[in-house]
Amino acid sequence: MCGIVGYIGKRKAYPVLIKGLHRLEYRGYDSAGVALINNAGQLNIYKAKGKVSELEAYAADKDTGGCIGIAHTRWATHGEPNMVNAHPHYSESERLAIIHNGIIENYAVLKAGLQAEGYTFKSDTDTEVLVQLIEYTQLNRQADLKTAVQLALQQVVGAYAIAVLDKEHPDTLIAARKGSPLVVGIGEDEYFLASDATPIVEYTDKVIYLGDEEVVVLTVNPQLSILNYQLSTINGVDKTPEIKRLELSLSQLEKGGYPHFMLKEIFEQPRTLTDSMRGRVNVRQDNIALSGFIDNKDRFLNAKRIIITACGTSWHAGLIAMYAIEEFAQIPVEVEYSSEFRYRKPVINKDDVVIAISQSGETADTLAAIQLAKQHGAFIFSICNVVGASIPRLSDSGCYTHVGPEIGVASTKAFTAQVTALTMLALCIGREKGTLTKEHFTRIVSELGQIPNKISRVLEQEKRIADFAKTFTYAQNFIYLGRGYNYPVAMEGALKLKEISYIHAEGYPAAEMKHGPIALISQEMPVVVVAPHCGTYEKIVSNIQEIKARKGKVIAVVTDGDEVVSKIADYIIEVPQTEECLTPLLTVIPLQLLAYHIAVVKGCDVDQPRNLAKSVTVE
Ligand code: AGP
Repeated sequence: MCGIVGYIGKRKAYPVLIKGLHRLEYRGYDSAGVALINNAGQLNIYKAKGKVSELEAYAADKDTGGCIGIAHTRWATHGEPNMVNAHPHYSESERLAIIHNGIIENYAVLKAGLQAEGYTFKSDTDTEVLVQLIEYTQLNRQADLKTAVQLALQQVVGAYAIAVLDKEHPDTLIAARKGSPLVVGIGEDEYFLASDATPIVEYTDKVIYLGDEEVVVLTVNPQLSILNYQLSTINGVDKTPEIKRLELSLSQLEKGGYPHFMLKEIFEQPRTLTDSMRGRVNVRQDNIALSGFIDNKDRFLNAKRIIITACGTSWHAGLIAMYAIEEFAQIPVEVEYSSEFRYRKPVINKDDVVIAISQSGETADTLAAIQLAKQHGAFIFSICNVVGASIPRLSDSGCYTHVGPEIGVASTKAFTAQVTALTMLALCIGREKGTLTKEHFTRIVSELGQIPNKISRVLEQEKRIADFAKTFTYAQNFIYLGRGYNYPVAMEGALKLKEISYIHAEGYPAAEMKHGPIALISQEMPVVVVAPHCGTYEKIVSNIQEIKARKGKVIAVVTDGDEVVSKIADYIIEVPQTEECLTPLLTVIPLQLLAYHIAVVKGCDVDQPRNLAKSVTVE
């Protein structure tokens, strides 16, 4: 997954492009580059390894003039992260420049064909093959740029979001997408392109989400009073663009005074959960209205099985959903890692419901998993945070989490919103099937309405958690334990710690300790135990005693007023009492804060951890 930005219009392009790249660095940041056509008609490309700030330093004394340009921040797929492989890429004659997000799967075949025609390549990337193919098509088919792009893309197998410049047409910017996101911003006398809306929102709220295999031609020529955009398919079929209004505001993007986006997003959770329940959970009327469920009731009520497919944190949300759906709706649930599900030749039936969970809506493995399920006739329901993203667009129905852009690579507010949406869905199915009593339904709906305030109470302990986080930065390993609904929370807490502090951590069902991990217990390895007062509480107390008997250090997340665990654990974090199925929404908060503060004390790059990117849009 990479970030791409384009601009054509009344302004100097370079500042718009650089600011846009900064907004997109969460998508990948191992190298960056910019291509500009200056007022003398020269096509200039500047590239640098590392983050966007490296590119700015490199371009500081260069000619960055011109009102048209494209820019790219990369997360390497083909070719290691370096200057040569960074985008943009020139065509052979240096007439064209291209940037690309995605993977050209048949690039080797295309490259061999071009080499047979005498083309040479400077980089190891699939992207350079594409720009050479476009130029080759232009020259050998006497095609204009748009036609050349269309004909070239017809030969491509794979995913792409591209933008192309032609120095012989400085009034035209062409873009196309398939499988990777691309948004067009419609401004006053100017157009914008970006992988998502964040680089666009400060200039305009009018956007077009390009669809798969769509090509857009943006033309601005003040001398000839030309200002227009045309939409077509790669097969040359004209299309009428659908302009949408952005709901994003710039303030959502700023850090709001927090040192990191991740901390801002942790503290946003009371509001984001309120937003994600808005119009859906009505405590006074004792009702949950999920349109995606209401419009497709029969699919859920007749489902013999529900398959949940996701990756990472989203997979943890799916594991929690398994407990809720089986408890309340009594439908068998299987939770699958998308990367395994898509390749293991799974049995998928027409009456299966497949729930895809994805914050970004662009995770390649999850997208492929639902494509497979769709081929088998299953009903696809997605839980996603990005309106118009590929996964919801491929789904039959779904539920947006509406938590706004999640910039921190470590997912926090999206996770609690996913759990909330899935819990709402489980309650709706159970109520409709009659497997969940009205009294129990009412009790949980009433508690759901209290959760945002209860999260606020947990967040008030941030300072204390920050203080004792300092004592654990020595640790090389952590173990996280939980039972029932809180076993997936233990796994999520472990993922948070390892992905931002680089400390190894594993999440386990607490009872699994006796089957091996207890051999690891020592004073050097902290053990985090998620032990709210519900379910198998007494069992987890015994697990804690087993750890203490072996001199393990225990950090326990307990229910307010706990008098048993608080006497045996070394550190206690209290969360308010709530319904068992809702405890993950509270117990995960201290684990998010613990991971964050340990990472900060260790001086890690919390928002952009090494080797990671926010959305894994390639395999
Ligand atoms: C979570 O903190 C990670 N950033 C990662 O595991 C993430 O949850 C995973 O890549 C799935 O992303 P998605 O929800 O956008 O599909």
